[in-house]
Amino acid sequence: MNLVLLGPPGSGKGTQATFIAEELEIPHISTGDMLREAVSKQTELGIKAKSYMDKGELVPDEVVIGIAIERLKSADCQKGFLLDGFPRTVRQAEALDKALSESGHKLDAVLNIEVADEEIINRLTGRRSCVDCKRVYHLVFEPPQNPNFCDACGGKLVHRSDDTIETVTNRLKVYKEQTEPLISYYKRQNLLKSVDGQQSIDAVFYDILTVLKGDYA
Ligand code: AP5
Ligand code: MG
Repeated sequence: MNLVLLGPPGSGKGTQATFIAEELEIPHISTGDMLREAVSKQTELGIKAKSYMDKGELVPDEVVIGIAIERLKSADCQKGFLLDGFPRTVRQAEALDKALSESGHKLDAVLNIEVADEEIINRLTGRRSCVDCKRVYHLVFEPPQNPNFCDACGGKLVHRSDDTIETVTNRLKVYKEQTEPLISYYKRQNLLKSVDGQQSIDAVFYDILTVLKGDYA
């Protein structure tokens, strides 16, 4: 299946992506993770992206479209993929549609995870992420056995530098202005499937599988 995960910062895209990718045996492609990797390696892309990410602004379309479309050409994406955090502007969505149709593919569904703003601040200030396998934890809602190391791979757990209150507030504003219009964009294409993200992690996953049933079962 070719899937997109849509939702505000902290809605649980990365958390659910781990489970969905495992269940459907498709690669999890997070543009946020790809950009953070580039930042940590101090590549040319990383140096350019860092200034935007630190402020909670979107990295320019032409940069992100290039890396996402290139990634989708890899062999492991030919039998399906799960995009997390891309597209997040109408221009990115149009570029994705064009690239997919040129290669004879199309999206099967866009999963929209709905969470209220107040909940997002709680989630992001307590989040910890593994620098190696990118698995996501929360110190209260999804605690790792050891607060410093990943249960899955033993990698170091870090608090993302863009998870401060100021940056999260701007990320939410940017989401509403630039990414929320994608909800109508994908509704018009009859691809949007919304789920209530304010339930337990297991319940959200169950709902996602339920809305996808028929598409993949
Ligand atoms: P990105 O990395 O994509 O961040 P985001 O969209 O802001 O989303 P997050 O990763 O913060 O949240 P999430 O929805 O994955 O939630 P998670 O599962 O971690 O982007 C970062 C930056 O990169 C952007 O600001 C931008 O600068 C740049 N960028 C990336 N893509 C771009 C693009 N396409 N175009 C331009 N720029 C781009 O969960 C959050 C927390 O909640 C965790 O602690 C988790 O344990 C907890 N949690 C999850 N589910 C539940 C639940 N059901 N109940 C309780 N707690 C829960
Ligand atoms: Mg994420």
